[in-house]
Amino acid sequence: MCGIVGYIGHREAFPIVIKGLQRLEYRGYDSAGVAIYDGSKINLSKTKGKVEDLKNKAKEISQAGTLGIGHTRWATHGVPNDVNSHPHYSNSGDLVIIHNGIIENYESIKKALINRGYSFKSDTDTEVLVNLIEEVQKTEGVKLGKAVQIALNQVVGAYAIAVFDKKKPDEIVVAKLGSPLAIGVGENEFFIASDASPFIEFTNNAVYLEDEEMAIIRLGKEIKLRKIKNDAIAYPNILELQMNLEEIEKGGYDHFMLKEIYEQPRAIMDTYRGRLLADQGIIRMAGIDENIEKFTNANRIIIVACGTSWHAGLVAEYIFEDLARIPVEVEYASEFRYRNPIITDKDVLIAISQSGETADTLAAIKLAKEKGAFVFGVCNVVGSSIARESNAGAYTHAGPEIGVASTKAFTTQITVLTLIALKLAKEKGEFSSSKFHEYLTELETIPSKVEKSLQSNALVETVAEVYKDSANCLYLGRGYNFPVALEGALKLKEISYIHAEGYPAAEMKHGPIALIDEQMPVIVIATKKGHYEKVVSNIQEIKSRKGKIIAIVTEGDVQVKELADHVIEIPETLESLTPLLTTIPLQLLSYHIAVMRNCNVDQPRNLAKSVTVE
Ligand code: F6R
Repeated sequence: MCGIVGYIGHREAFPIVIKGLQRLEYRGYDSAGVAIYDGSKINLSKTKGKVEDLKNKAKEISQAGTLGIGHTRWATHGVPNDVNSHPHYSNSGDLVIIHNGIIENYESIKKALINRGYSFKSDTDTEVLVNLIEEVQKTEGVKLGKAVQIALNQVVGAYAIAVFDKKKPDEIVVAKLGSPLAIGVGENEFFIASDASPFIEFTNNAVYLEDEEMAIIRLGKEIKLRKIKNDAIAYPNILELQMNLEEIEKGGYDHFMLKEIYEQPRAIMDTYRGRLLADQGIIRMAGIDENIEKFTNANRIIIVACGTSWHAGLVAEYIFEDLARIPVEVEYASEFRYRNPIITDKDVLIAISQSGETADTLAAIKLAKEKGAFVFGVCNVVGSSIARESNAGAYTHAGPEIGVASTKAFTTQITVLTLIALKLAKEKGEFSSSKFHEYLTELETIPSKVEKSLQSNALVETVAEVYKDSANCLYLGRGYNFPVALEGALKLKEISYIHAEGYPAAEMKHGPIALIDEQMPVIVIATKKGHYEKVVSNIQEIKSRKGKIIAIVTEGDVQVKELADHVIEIPETLESLTPLLTTIPLQLLSYHIAVMRNCNVDQPRNLAKSVTVE
C-alpha cells in the first residue's frame, strides 16, 4: 500500500509529482504529501485526505524546484492525519523521506534514538527510519547512500523508500524490499514511482529494483545499483515499457471501474491472443510448455491468492478437476502461509495476483518454493514481485487496472486458468481432439458474448434503482457459478458498503434461508447448464418466503422468468465458461448501486489496490 513518486531533472518537479500521485492514488488515499527542493530550501506540504486536498493545501508553499518527492498513504502506523502523512524530515531537517511498507522493529530503534536525543513528531515507523539514517550519517561519517545501506541492514520489514539530503541537491537514494519501486530513465532526468504510470508520458525506459537493492540516482550520472546486504554492485536492466497513456486514463467513462468493466471483451481477447490457436488445434503457453511434466506429474495443484483473485482460483478448481482431472486445493494465501501446510516437490503451486505485489501471496510462494514445490504465477502487472519470484508463469493481459474493485483482472485470470486447464486436459488424454476443438472455438466466442452481456447495462441500472437502499443482499450460485456468487457479493460490499454474502445455492437451507423476507434481495445465478433444476427449486424456496429474486439466466429462459422479480440474460456457452459471462451483470449491479449511493466507486473507503502489508 501507499504510492511513492519522485523526480529529479530539468523540469519543475511539483506538477509531475502531483500528477503521479493522482495516478497512484489507487494504492492508498487517506493522506498525501509532497516535498520540493529548489536547491536552497525544502518546501513541504502534507495533509490528511486526497491528492486533490494536497493540491489545494500546497498553494501555501513555493512549488518551484526540480527535485521533488511525494506520497499517497494507506495508514499502517499512526492514524491518517497531517502529521503522520509523508514525507518526513529527519531531526536536523536535512533529510526527507517517503516510504511504502512497514518497519517492524521500529519501536526498539525509536527507543535507542530517543536515548541519543532524537525527538519524534509523528507516530510513524518512517520518521524513525529517516532519523536512523541521519544517526548513521553522523556517527559513521558516511554519505547518504552508505548511510541508507547501513540503516536498512538494521531494520526488519518491508520498504520502498526515496530519500534526499539537503546538502546534495542533485541526488535521490532509493531502496526496495517487498514493496515495488520503478525508476524511469529519461534524458538527464529520473522518475521514481511505485509503478510506471506516473512517468509513462515522459519515458518508456524503466528499471525495476529487485528486493534488497538500492540505487543512487544522481543527475548527469548513470544509476548506481547496489545490493543492500553485501554492497555488491548490481547492473540496471533497462526495460522498454509497453504501457500507453490512454490505458491509464478514464477515456470518457465516469469511473475507472466502469471503463474496466467495458474493457473486458478486449482484455479477454488480449489474454488468449497468440496462445489460443483454434485453427491449429493448439494452445501455446511457454510457461506451461516448458514445464509440462511438472503439471502432468503433479500430485495436486495448490492455488493461493487473496480476494477476487482467490475467487478466480475457486473457479479454476472446478475447471482443473472437471476438465484436466488434477486434484486442486484453493487456499487463502494469508492462511496457507501460517498454518504449516504439507507441501512436497510433487506439488505445483499456482499464485494468482492482479498486482503481483500482495504480501501474503508473495510469502506463500516463498514458503512453497522453500519446500520444493514448483511455483507458477498468474499476474497482471508485468515485472511485479510475484511474477519475478515464480519459477514460471503466464501474464493476464488485462492492461492496467486502476479501479480498486477488481473486474477485468478476474475475467482475464479465469481466461488464463482455463487455457492452462484445457492444455493439461489435452496433454493428459482427458479430451478427444474434437472436444478440445469445441472448447477452443467456444472460448474464442467469449469476447463477443461478454459484449452482449454488457448490453444488459440499462436493465441492470433499473434493478439497481430498486435495491440501492437495501441493508443486506444474498448471492447464490452453484458449481462453476458458486465462486461468481462470492465475487458478486464482494463487489457489492466493497464499493457500496451494503452487507452482502455469497453462498452455494444448496447451502441456503442450512442457515441463510432464515434471513429471507420481503426486504431481502437474492441474486441467483441460474444458467441453463449449471444444475438448473436444482437452482430453480432454490428459487421457489426464496419465493415462498417472499424474498426478491434477481436471476441471471441463459438467453431464452422461460421457467425462471415466471418466478423471478427481475431477469437478466446472458448468452449461452459451455458450462465451464459461464463465469466469464455471469460475472458481468453482477459487476454492473454493484457499480450502479455504488454510484446511486454516492460512494467513491474507484477508491472505496479503507481499501487499497495493492496490499503490500500482511
Ligand atoms: C477486490 C479486490 C481485492 C484483490 C485482493 C488481491 O475487488 O480487488 O480483493 O483481489 O486484494 O489482490 P491481487 O490480485 O493484486 O493479489
